[in-house]
Formats: sequence, structure tokens, C-alpha cells
Amino acid sequence: MKFIDMQSDNTTPYQSEDYDANVINTLPYYLSYHQETINLIKSINPVPKIWLDTGCGTGTLIDMAVKKFPKTRFLLLDPSESMLKQAKMKFCNLSKNRLKFLKPSPTQEFSEILKEKVDVITAIQCHHYLSVNDRKKALDVCYNNIKDDGIFVTFENIRPLTKKGVEIGKKYWKNFQLEHGREKEVVEQHLKRFDKEYFPITIEEHLKLLRDSGFKDVEMLWYSYLQAGFYCIK
Ligand SMILES: C[S@@+](CC[C@H](N)C(=O)[O-])C[C@H]1O[C@@H](n2cnc3c(N)ncnc32)[C@H](O)[C@@H]1O
Repeated sequence: MKFIDMQSDNTTPYQSEDYDANVINTLPYYLSYHQETINLIKSINPVPKIWLDTGCGTGTLIDMAVKKFPKTRFLLLDPSESMLKQAKMKFCNLSKNRLKFLKPSPTQEFSEILKEKVDVITAIQCHHYLSVNDRKKALDVCYNNIKDDGIFVTFENIRPLTKKGVEIGKKYWKNFQLEHGREKEVVEQHLKRFDKEYFPITIEEHLKLLRDSGFKDVEMLWYSYLQAGFYCIK
């Protein structure tokens, strides 16, 4: 397994080609983030016209969503060419009318003018790498590209409210990875990424940031120890 001791080709600890196989043993509830996002969108707008997934990685969310939303057109964005290469393989049989890959870019630098604003933007586990300023820029980009009444969903690694909470969260995350067969040293390295490779903010800071970005309804969708999901309506 390629991990950490070699330079990854994206912001995650894994080479893109190894991402799918590793992430389920690393991130607790990983597939729930996608499932809950899909359930949420179905509850708000069962037939979105256009859905942009930023930080799409290897395309796991949209791979599920194309089947559940057969009338929706999907736009996929990610800064990593190698992640996009993996995603492209997943969709090689899908019609070009259903899905388009946008030019690689981090959300905060995305400047392409879309033909029309989109109904949904999702950002799953991809904005916690950003500084506070870049987070604001990324949120502005999302806000500006969403239609009125459109939906923004984001999941991130978060910072618990207290020092004790951080300690407990890390202990939980360590146990999860060990129980999923990951080596102790690899897990220790992984946990050191907190505040070094990604920069988590608290739930309270998230809610404020999302409200300050202009969204009219801001809600928590999901929460467990060191990860949380939020949704907003423009
Ligand atoms: C942990 S993976 C998550 C991928 C995917 N969303 C999923 O659910 O599996 C993080 C992804 O975020 C991308 N990323 C890193 N910085 C980003 C940024 N500033 N804007 C958008 N995506 C970013 C990485 O290239 C990577 O594909």
C-alpha cells in the first residue's frame, strides 16, 4: 500500500488510484456522507436540473447520484488531475449529456462562467484543507454559482468544541482505523494531519461562516466526533 512516506498526488494521504480502497477504512461513515446527501437532495428537490460536485475526487458521490437522479446533469470539479482521471474511468459509459468534467481547479479559484446557475453544489470532505480566507472565497464561489432556492451541502473534518473533545475524537478515529486493519504507525501519522495538512473549524464557526456567506437557511445535516455535514438554501 502506498501511504504517507511518498508524496501523494492529491491533498489526501493516498495516491489517487488507491483512494477508493483506502478511504472506507480511514473515514468513519464515509459512504453515509454520500447517502445522506442524496437523501437530503431528494427531500428538497427530487429533480434538480444541474448538480455541481466540487472536490469530486474519484467521483463516488456522483456515481451514486447518476442512478438516483436520472434527469439531472452533473458537473464535476476537482483540482487534482489524477483524481479526475480515476473519476473519468467510473463514467466512461455515461452519456456526455449527463455529465461534464470541468477544467481542474480548487473551488476558491474556480472562475469558469457556467451557462446557467446550478440547483445543487456539493463539497464532500474537500474544503477543510483551506485557510479561513480561502474558505470564504470557496463559499462565495459556491454561493454565486447556485440559483436562488438552490442547495449547498458540505461535509468536513471538524474541530470539536473543547480540547477534551479533540482528544476523544482522535482516540475514536484511531480505534476505528485500527479495527479496520490499518497499521498503528500509519494511523499515528494520519492523526498528525489535524491542523497540519487540514485545518478544521468548529461547528459553531461553520454555521457562522455559512450564514455570513448569505445563505438564507443554514442547517446541520450530520455529526460524529471529527466529521460533520451542513446544508444551506440560497
Ligand atoms: C478526501 S477527498 C474527497 C473526495 C470526494 N468528495 C469523496 O467524497 O470521496 C478530497 C478531495 O478534495 C480535493 N480538493 C483539495 N483541495 C480542494 C479545494 N480547495 N477545492 C476543491 N477540492 C479540493 C482533492 O483533490 C480530493 O479529490
